[in-house]
Amino acid sequence: MSESYKEAFEKTRSAGIIAAGALDEVAKIAHPGTRTDEIDKLCYEFINDHGAYSAPLFYRGFPKSCCTSTNHVVCHGIPSEKVLKEGDIVNVDVTALKDGWHGDTSRTFEIGEVSIKAKKLVKTTHDAMMKAIKIVKEDIHLGDIGDIIQSHVEAEGFSVVQDFCGHGIGQIFHKEPNILHYGKKGTGEKIKAGMIFTIEPMINIGNYETKTLNDGWTAVTKDKSLSAQFEHTVGVTKDGYEIFTLPKN
Ligand code: MF3
Ligand code: CO
Ligand code: CO
Repeated sequence: MSESYKEAFEKTRSAGIIAAGALDEVAKIAHPGTRTDEIDKLCYEFINDHGAYSAPLFYRGFPKSCCTSTNHVVCHGIPSEKVLKEGDIVNVDVTALKDGWHGDTSRTFEIGEVSIKAKKLVKTTHDAMMKAIKIVKEDIHLGDIGDIIQSHVEAEGFSVVQDFCGHGIGQIFHKEPNILHYGKKGTGEKIKAGMIFTIEPMINIGNYETKTLNDGWTAVTKDKSLSAQFEHTVGVTKDGYEIFTLPKN
């Protein structure tokens, strides 16, 4: 690995392991009866106990340490006294800031038994993210990432959210480039070894359109259809990629 980005990769790896570890713990309490603010507390404490800081807390005024986005909430749901119930899906999005570097990851959890349709949405969203990650290497175009996600998702009859995107990440939480989850192969800038960014598709059962609630954060599907999301922080190498936020199991 080139000396020039070894440090960036090492530090992002450390932050990513903590963020993923927090989600491994969330998995253990993602059951009917759990309140979303209990998930928030767990994330806050896990990240602190590992010598890191929860980057979402007070980020542009965000009041909590993670985002909990349930059912038709697309992203940026605010943890609250809301109780998770059988059949819900909930995305938990955490970002650890360790030694000046960020690791950002999210997973959608199924609460108890969920509908066949919800299961298909969650699987399709995860598959789309992984398919995109697997093509990452130096010199592919950003549009290749969007294209592979959009093609997979639309073939399953679902839609790709356009109002939110992945992002470059490093010592800054959200930086260039924007990583669109839709697009055309061969378009957009070519990526370079050493780049670090997130891929975090938000996929809806119904229409792709979203709106933001009056709290200024919670984004929901306009048609109230279910929405799922997964996110990894990924580093680009000459011949491939490294995922910094893999689950332990
Ligand atoms: N973690 C989210 C992302 O994937 C950003 C959350 S910002 C917050 O980019 F302020 F809503 F927490
Ligand atoms: Co992100
Ligand atoms: Co995130």
